[in-house]
Amino acid sequence: MKNIVILISGGGSNMEAIVRAAERDRWAERHGARIAAVVSNKAEAGGLAIAKAHGIDTAVVPHKDFATREAFDEALAKVVDSYAPALVVLAGFMRILTPGFVNRYAGRLVNIHPSLLPAFPGLHTHQRAIEAGCKVAGVTVHQVTTELDHGPILAQAVVPVLPDDTAATLAGRVLAQEHLLYPRAIAGWLSDTSRHNE
Ligand code: GRF
Repeated sequence: MKNIVILISGGGSNMEAIVRAAERDRWAERHGARIAAVVSNKAEAGGLAIAKAHGIDTAVVPHKDFATREAFDEALAKVVDSYAPALVVLAGFMRILTPGFVNRYAGRLVNIHPSLLPAFPGLHTHQRAIEAGCKVAGVTVHQVTTELDHGPILAQAVVPVLPDDTAATLAGRVLAQEHLLYPRAIAGWLSDTSRHNE
């Protein structure tokens, strides 16, 4: 069985969309894959209760307990590695990961970013898209490399930017697409046998 570990920091709506897709589309039978654990850097992350309600293991590695990024990432990797993951999924995980962590999971670490990369890496993507006068915005699922919000693009979806959009209304329209795109991109990754030999 291929284990998937999902890392979150907050509400976990993308994680929930992935978990629901895994159940609905029977990833265990179809892809030999399961969501093995959801790990958060924040104990108060709302997504933890959602994961538990689906019978998924949860863990918290509070970044505030560690003096350096390296020490935090090492503790995080220890938890993640205990599930021997085929895929590690960043879903609203709001910590910058060290090259050591990223390289450890090279080729099996994916992220979702709420912009059409390579436009608008980093934070405040919706506000920046509106201020730039973009007529379309969107979301990107990509493999994680050591450069923040870069790496090979696995999937994208486009949404219109409407004349009266605020960052909040645009974020809502993009988030609805995130919930469709991320499970689809992961299922695509799982069925692409050239990526793994199990
Ligand atoms: C999403 O918009 C994600 O793309 C961004 O943070 C948000 C997380 O939402 N990085 P959730 O925790 O999945 O609900």
